[in-house]
Amino acid sequence: MSGSWYRDCNESLGPVLLDAATIQKRVRELGAQITEDYRGKTPHLVAILRGASIFHADLVRAIDLGLSFDFIAVGSYGPDTASSGEVRILKDLDESLEGRDVLLVEDIVDTGLTLHYLLQTMLARKPRSLKVVALLNKPARRRIEVPVDYIGFEIPDKFVVGYGLDFDQRYRNLPDIRVLSIGA
Ligand code: IMP
Ligand code: MG
Repeated sequence: MSGSWYRDCNESLGPVLLDAATIQKRVRELGAQITEDYRGKTPHLVAILRGASIFHADLVRAIDLGLSFDFIAVGSYGPDTASSGEVRILKDLDESLEGRDVLLVEDIVDTGLTLHYLLQTMLARKPRSLKVVALLNKPARRRIEVPVDYIGFEIPDKFVVGYGLDFDQRYRNLPDIRVLSIGA
């Protein structure tokens, strides 16, 4: 990371938790595993905006199969997604999921509430199969059990930014994943 623009912000960037090379290596492994598991199929990847956009862009290029993809954007009703658990769709999919082998692409599974809601919603649209790939998993914060079929990394209960993940819409473009200290 050569730029120093982030020093202007109030919160401070802590240590690198996962560097760019480590992330890239793991994304290639996930792509290879998905390629193996979906051989003979044409998976339909659904990326959850905006956090999963960077992960998704790298992941699809690591999958050596014909595939298609679509995007969905979700938000919470209250100010805090994690506390309300009420999720709403801000931008819906462009295409039907019926009869497709759907793979939901998420940046991080924290409380599990967002994913829980999305899985219910997606299942009602009658896909042939439905699986989840998440780059990061924070199991310590789980409030509801959710199935995650592919996980990039298990991480401790820290707030992280970079590689698509934001704090107040910032830091998504960091190539590494770093811990953020808020109000420090
Ligand atoms: P949930 O708590 O599992 O519903 O996660 C909701 C959303 O919160 C995730 O999709 C992320 O966008 C965001 N989130 C959770 N933990 C972090 C974090 O450590 N950094 C940045 N965003 C996070
Ligand atoms: Mg997200």
